[in-house]
Amino acid sequence: MQSMSKSSKRWLDRQRRDPYARRAKAESNVSRAHYKLEDLDRRFKLLQRNMRVLELGAAPGGWTRYVESRIAGGLLVAIDPLPISVSGVVHTIEGRYGDAEVDEALAALVQEASLHLVLSDMAPNISGIRAADQARAMYLADMALDAARRYLQPEGSLVVKIFQGAGVDEWMAEARGAFEKVVLAKPRASRPESREVFAVARGFTG
Ligand SMILES: C[S@@+](CC[C@H](N)C(=O)[O-])C[C@H]1O[C@@H](n2cnc3c(N)ncnc32)[C@H](O)[C@@H]1O
Repeated sequence: MQSMSKSSKRWLDRQRRDPYARRAKAESNVSRAHYKLEDLDRRFKLLQRNMRVLELGAAPGGWTRYVESRIAGGLLVAIDPLPISVSGVVHTIEGRYGDAEVDEALAALVQEASLHLVLSDMAPNISGIRAADQARAMYLADMALDAARRYLQPEGSLVVKIFQGAGVDEWMAEARGAFEKVVLAKPRASRPESREVFAVARGFTG
């Protein structure tokens, strides 16, 4: 049998100790990420019935399942190159947001300026080279802002995963030019040692 690498073992140990990972397992949720969105939703009242939502970086599907449970009668399009666990009513697109064929598939499902909410939990593969990883993460945050500009209706909202570091101030300034209010929030389920925070932007002004 193949032995486990040190980093896989560390990840597994951390998952076993993590209260949110244990809770996700006990409550049959797809991933611990579920609790991050649930917390943001409680604080910012993001989701309600009949909403039309775009989710970027959706695999394995923790957020997808949560959104599905909150928007009965609405529309959810979830995008990721990796498989997304869904129960049936969600439209999934397998691929990277920003690629031409993904754009085409999305445009066939969603009209421009028609959505209430764009969510992005997109994260790059981590190389360990901090400056390069930060640049890739900010590029994904830029893409999420572009998606919001294209697909949100006036007054719509955007939630984006951001890693604290170079480029965040510029990103916030740009977002503040397109929304009435933009704040950074750290959900309780987000690991304290992680630089991860979420930008919550409301009141899209176009
Ligand atoms: C932290 S995970 C998302 C977890 C998910 N929100 C959940 O609740 O299960 C980040 C995801 O972003 C995806 N991703 C990275 N770049 C992307 C892109 N350009 N388009 C779509 N998804 C992307 C990765 O494949 C990965 O599955």
